[in-house]
Amino acid sequence: MRKLLAVAMCMLSLTLGACGGDDAGSASAASNDPSTVSGSSGSSSLDSPALSLAAQLGKQLFFDRTLSGSGKMSCATCHDPNYAYGPPNSLAVQLGGPGLTSPGVRAAPSLRYKDNTPPYSDLLDNPDGISVPGPGGGLTWDGRAATLSDQAKLPLLDPVEMDNASPADVVTKVKAASYAPLYLQAYGDNGFSDTNTAFSNIVAALQAYQLEDPSFHPYSSKFDLWAGNKTGGQLTAAELRGLAVFTDANRGNCASCHYQGAGFNGSSALFTDFSYEAIGVPRNLEIPANASATYFDMGVCGPLRTDHLPASPGAPNAFCGMFKAPTVRNSATRQAFFHNGVIHSLTQLVRFYNTRDTNPELWYPTLGGTPKAMPDASFPTYGLITTQYVGGTVQKFNDLPAAYAGNIDPQMPLDGRAPGSPTPMSEQDVQDLVCFLGTLTDGYKPPANPPASGACVN
Ligand code: HEC
Ligand code: HEC
Repeated sequence: MRKLLAVAMCMLSLTLGACGGDDAGSASAASNDPSTVSGSSGSSSLDSPALSLAAQLGKQLFFDRTLSGSGKMSCATCHDPNYAYGPPNSLAVQLGGPGLTSPGVRAAPSLRYKDNTPPYSDLLDNPDGISVPGPGGGLTWDGRAATLSDQAKLPLLDPVEMDNASPADVVTKVKAASYAPLYLQAYGDNGFSDTNTAFSNIVAALQAYQLEDPSFHPYSSKFDLWAGNKTGGQLTAAELRGLAVFTDANRGNCASCHYQGAGFNGSSALFTDFSYEAIGVPRNLEIPANASATYFDMGVCGPLRTDHLPASPGAPNAFCGMFKAPTVRNSATRQAFFHNGVIHSLTQLVRFYNTRDTNPELWYPTLGGTPKAMPDASFPTYGLITTQYVGGTVQKFNDLPAAYAGNIDPQMPLDGRAPGSPTPMSEQDVQDLVCFLGTLTDGYKPPANPPASGACVN
């Protein structure tokens, strides 16, 4: 979404209530071990509300590996509670299907802080109250699922994920599960009589679990303590500088899309404005589908999403290349970033934002040049491309057909500046920003004696 102005409202005002999330500070992550899932209260936290019957059922379903064709994969396999309900490994795409060997085409997102996501709209009002309305809302990287329950149908039936043959297949498995009595308690004695209704109930239960259980929106990061003015929430000098980089329209400008002010429904500090932009993430050859030179995952304009397809290949279409700007909460727990998982560390990700335009040769392949046997000492090694070329042409935006290069968003720090220009962020800014992003990880326990020196302190 093109912003009229990047804002940093809550950070700059002292009205801390506008930034602070809520008080549910101590929700503990559930275990990924299904044997510890009791189905009773949903969370061990004392101040957690009891889960509804539907949500209790949803919790059982979420961790149940028998709900997959392989019998080995549950929702939690890819959305591990110990990793903020994101993947527990560094794979760009997870492996599913009958033998857990079939690769998907996108990185598995964290399931945290999805509870206030509105359905997708081409002209969603932006929660920042300043940006013009634009594509926003919805679940998955392209917004094609309107609700969490619609979304749950996708992995259950996807042949490279949980690989059930049909909704009836899923219903049969739930009927045979040890928690079938809980299902009947939640949806009535006739709850299995109609297959379509039963399948809708099952995905509604998964939604209820994600909406109700505080472990999906714990607001228990260091940032939350700081924003709520709570004990232990002292950001270090480095973290505060990083926050300033995050919100500064002339440096990181991250807040312009990963908006941390007041959101919809009284939410705040979700670190997303639910908007979609094309930022030209490099093609990832770790994804087998990308071996085909004609396959492009273009987000909102398809191919997974089918209601915004170009009229013909290459026909003008402003939605091609757009992906959701996800929340950056808990991003420090991830090992693969962006919709295609091409980036593998948070520092590398920040360097991509900083040098995509100034040093595109670090991120996109060069065609036709001569590789140097030894790169110059000054040639950075943090990019995806570590070979230095003499001559040749950098294939910038190599994961988007050339016809759609005009869709690339021009906002800072990706403002299209010329190669060789100064970078938007200094080296210190990069380090500080990574430190700040680290404060967004849930489950923060303030140390008794905070360190006086070391990384991210001074
Ligand atoms: C094989 C790995 C895998 C499994 C198993 C899996 N997911 Fe996902 N999940 C993904 C991927 C990949 C995406 C992104 C899909 C896309 O963008 O098209 C995703 C997206 C989501 C989203 C949208 C999040 C967002 O940011 O918009 C939700 C919600 C979700 N999954 C819930 C579930 C539930 C519930 C289950 C179990 C029924 C499940 N997932 C099983 C990999 C998985
Ligand atoms: C113009 C809007 C925009 C700006 C500005 C922006 N981002 Fe993003 N961000 C996005 C979009 C869109 C994606 C998803 C892109 C994709 O996967 O193709 C994304 C993805 C990410 C992710 C990956 C999250 C995940 O789960 O994989 C992180 C982390 C992130 N951005 C951090 C930042 C930081 C830090 C800054 C500031 C330096 C920043 N972003 C600036 C739009 C933006």
